[in-house]
Amino acid sequence: MKKKFLICFQLLLALLFDTTQNFALAKGSYHFTDTDVAFLKQFSLASLPSMPIASDNLVADDPRAAALGQRLFFDKRLSVNGKVSCASCHQPHKYFTDGIARSKALGITRRNAPTILGAPYSPWFFWDGRKDSLWSQALGPLQDANEHGLDPIEIVRIIRKHYKKDFDILFSNKVNWVRLKKVIDRPRRFGRLTSRQKTSVNQIFSQVGKAIMAYERKLNFKPARFDRFVEQLQRDKTNDRLLADLMNEDEVAGMRLFMGRANCASCHNGPLFTNYEFHNIGAPEADLENVDLGRYAGVMLLQQDAFTCLSEQSDADPDDCQEMRFLKKQGRELVGAFKTPTLRNVAHTAPYMHAGQFATLEAVLAHYNSPTPPYYDREQHPSRPHFDIFPLKLDEMQIKQLSAFLHTLSSPISLDDPLWKAPD
Ligand code: HEC
Ligand code: HEC
Repeated sequence: MKKKFLICFQLLLALLFDTTQNFALAKGSYHFTDTDVAFLKQFSLASLPSMPIASDNLVADDPRAAALGQRLFFDKRLSVNGKVSCASCHQPHKYFTDGIARSKALGITRRNAPTILGAPYSPWFFWDGRKDSLWSQALGPLQDANEHGLDPIEIVRIIRKHYKKDFDILFSNKVNWVRLKKVIDRPRRFGRLTSRQKTSVNQIFSQVGKAIMAYERKLNFKPARFDRFVEQLQRDKTNDRLLADLMNEDEVAGMRLFMGRANCASCHNGPLFTNYEFHNIGAPEADLENVDLGRYAGVMLLQQDAFTCLSEQSDADPDDCQEMRFLKKQGRELVGAFKTPTLRNVAHTAPYMHAGQFATLEAVLAHYNSPTPPYYDREQHPSRPHFDIFPLKLDEMQIKQLSAFLHTLSSPISLDDPLWKAPD
């Protein structure tokens, strides 16, 4: 009897000991109030709204356009040397990035390739937001001498050769190919066309972008561990064991820092961990001779752009182009400011920042912890750049915890998803 009691007691002790070992800190770290849960819910994928309405692109949600766009996205024939497609730099198995600091195709680009995932939610595109729609964005790389290197006339020729039927069906054959043939069969550059000829070429050209945009809107994220953790909190926030299965103590501590003391969530917020705004966080200047003015230059480019929501090729009513109408055009805070990137899958999309200045997340976090103020060159900058962050003074352990948290934002890669590969 006595012996039995002793065994029982030992078992109880062992259990208690075990529990204290695993959950000694857990009592504190897995304790969430209803307010905490409601706050965290805003960051969960479940809170992602439906796709924003794209009144400037009539085929944005047409499945036939998405299927065509997918073929265009992976098609290397859409390049001057037949070797470059959008997927060369936005590789599905790298979460639609390319893993190098500055992208390389025909030449080396000035900036780092961001992911396409989540991009459709953004009001602005590129690091400097020099485009106001995904369809217009796609026209950039196609013409860029470092990327696909094509003249719009060449693009129309390629489309006529390989995709004429698809375009006729999708865009209900508004195009007069016979007349267009006369324009594009002569070897000359787009710049030499009359304005009427330019309009017919631009029509097909912008339709290429519109189909690609429809494809990009179909890509989505699968829930990450963080999303499952928030889901579990909503279901039962008292079950520490289930919560701990989803995120360990360091990850939870990192999450608390991210949302609180480290102030990350002031810019990286919402289900995609971005406010879509432009900030100068003092990432080192990549080229001191030719500084990157970021949003300051982006706004100027946007105002000159031939393919905005307000342009001839847009399907929108000008009243629907609110972003363009209320564009913030000036201000010191635009100088050297870049678009806050999403942090979903960030553990897999190194290197980081607009020119891939940091090779690892550790380097990024070291910068946030004791940032260097933005580079300022009186000759090149219109004014001294605004500085949007302050030193955090976190210790080594806290930095590790922040990094651990960022790793919980990875979605499983969807390579079995037919949208994540070149169509057959
Ligand atoms: C040579 C590599 C390369 C190719 C090819 C390329 N891109 Fe990109 N992509 C980039 C780089 C670099 C950026 C960032 C450029 C910048 O911000 O100035 C970018 C930015 C983007 C963005 C903006 C995302 C955001 O959140 O702002 C989208 C969308 C995109 N590319 C789609 C495409 C599409 C569609 C194609 C094919 C028509 C394409 N890219 C071809 C390298 C490439
Ligand atoms: C003031 C707004 C702001 C705050 C606060 C902020 N970020 Fe950022 N973050 C940005 C912007 C803007 C960029 C891109 C800057 C650039 O390229 O020059 C960025 C880039 C990043 C990147 C690189 C992502 C990529 O794909 O290149 C990571 C990682 C990151 N931030 C994590 C954090 C963490 C962690 C914190 C908190 C310690 C934080 N950020 C705080 C705005 C902010």
